[in-house]
Amino acid sequence: MALHDQYGQALSTANASSVTAYDRTIELFSGFRRDPLAVIGQALEQDPDFVSGHLARAALMLGSFDPMLVTMAGQCLDVAAACRTSPNGRERSLQGALRAWVTEGMDAGNRALDRHVVDHPRDMLAIQLAHLSDLMLGRTAMLRDRLARVLQKWDQDEPGYPYLQAMLAFGLEENGSYGQAEALGRHALERQPNCTWAVHAVAHVYEMSGRTEAGLRWLEQTRARWQSQNILSVHNHWHLALFRLEHDGADAAMALYDEAIAPTAESLAMNLSDGTALLWRLTLQGADAGWRWSALAERWLQRPTWGRTAFTDLHAVLCMAVSGSDEQSQALAEAIRRGAAGHGTATAWSSVVLPAQRAFIDFVAGEYRACADRLLPLLPQAQAVGGSHAQRELLLLTARCAAEHCGDNALADALGGQLQQSRRLAHRGLSQDTRPRSDSEALAEFAMAV
Ligand SMILES: [Fe+2]
Repeated sequence: MALHDQYGQALSTANASSVTAYDRTIELFSGFRRDPLAVIGQALEQDPDFVSGHLARAALMLGSFDPMLVTMAGQCLDVAAACRTSPNGRERSLQGALRAWVTEGMDAGNRALDRHVVDHPRDMLAIQLAHLSDLMLGRTAMLRDRLARVLQKWDQDEPGYPYLQAMLAFGLEENGSYGQAEALGRHALERQPNCTWAVHAVAHVYEMSGRTEAGLRWLEQTRARWQSQNILSVHNHWHLALFRLEHDGADAAMALYDEAIAPTAESLAMNLSDGTALLWRLTLQGADAGWRWSALAERWLQRPTWGRTAFTDLHAVLCMAVSGSDEQSQALAEAIRRGAAGHGTATAWSSVVLPAQRAFIDFVAGEYRACADRLLPLLPQAQAVGGSHAQRELLLLTARCAAEHCGDNALADALGGQLQQSRRLAHRGLSQDTRPRSDSEALAEFAMAV
């Protein structure tokens, strides 16, 4: 008789301890806690033909969005394919989706996961991987709508439900339903203290609606849950630094960069992106980040794989524009062009990353007119580069700052208005009430919102 994970997904193994380790792995991944790879790795040592275990390893590597781990994910898939145990239908489907990601790029993987999750709406690993890749591909509506597809197949009382609510909360936030997102995110965290994606979703609500003090309070109050042994630690500190920057100024944000965001030996590409984004925001405000730029550039330059994740590439070209030589920037652009060739989402690089690189170089050279002129036409396409609205604001902020520096008051005013749009939406009749709702109330609000 086939064994099943805690959400009822059949696993091709007869080893009960492998199932326990699989459940633990998915639980850690759901809460962005460390270290699901170690847990599933140990299980695979005991049960090397555990197909779902190898697939989970591959999925976790791809879900880090670190280009350097894509090759290793492919190797995990090779091992899964060589297992003596025959995979079941779900495992074959997931294997195909992950293989598409490795060989054809994240866009192809996301499309295959799209169908996989339709057929297997209780495959928590796949749901989360699809959700995160929706984010990294700029598929904003799917951040919300994918959860609407699967939630009907789950019971509100199940232990995994708050993790799904947290994903929905983030999807609602990215689609401008701030009141609903806040209520649902707070409710999910109340039900599941390890739900750091819910912490993150609510932090986004406060960032986008300009509620700086509420954001500071929220992240300080929840900090013990995510500040260590958590994959979101650097990113949530980045959010906290944005609130500190707004509330206490550049020195406070810089101190937090040094404390919790600056690169370490374990930094992944997403961590380097957060660091680059924060230093750039500080630079736009006139702060001098000094040696921090070269330390960050050094870490970017150690990376051999480009053209896999447009979002992280965008931050690499920015860091190199500030701290690298012209030759290094040119070499990086070439590597990105080569790496991205043939990807379904290659336009993200050709229409956003590479033009933005030239704009960053212009800015650093003091060519503000040229920078603003380059950035203006790419702003409507910025979503292609992926990431959240808050993260993509980096382009808008750069364009506005360039416009201010070159005395183009009309453009600076226009872009300032664009930056304030989400703040106005949040304050136009949406609830500021932070009372936790019941599931049915929060979901009823969601139903009204979409
Ligand atoms: Fe975020």
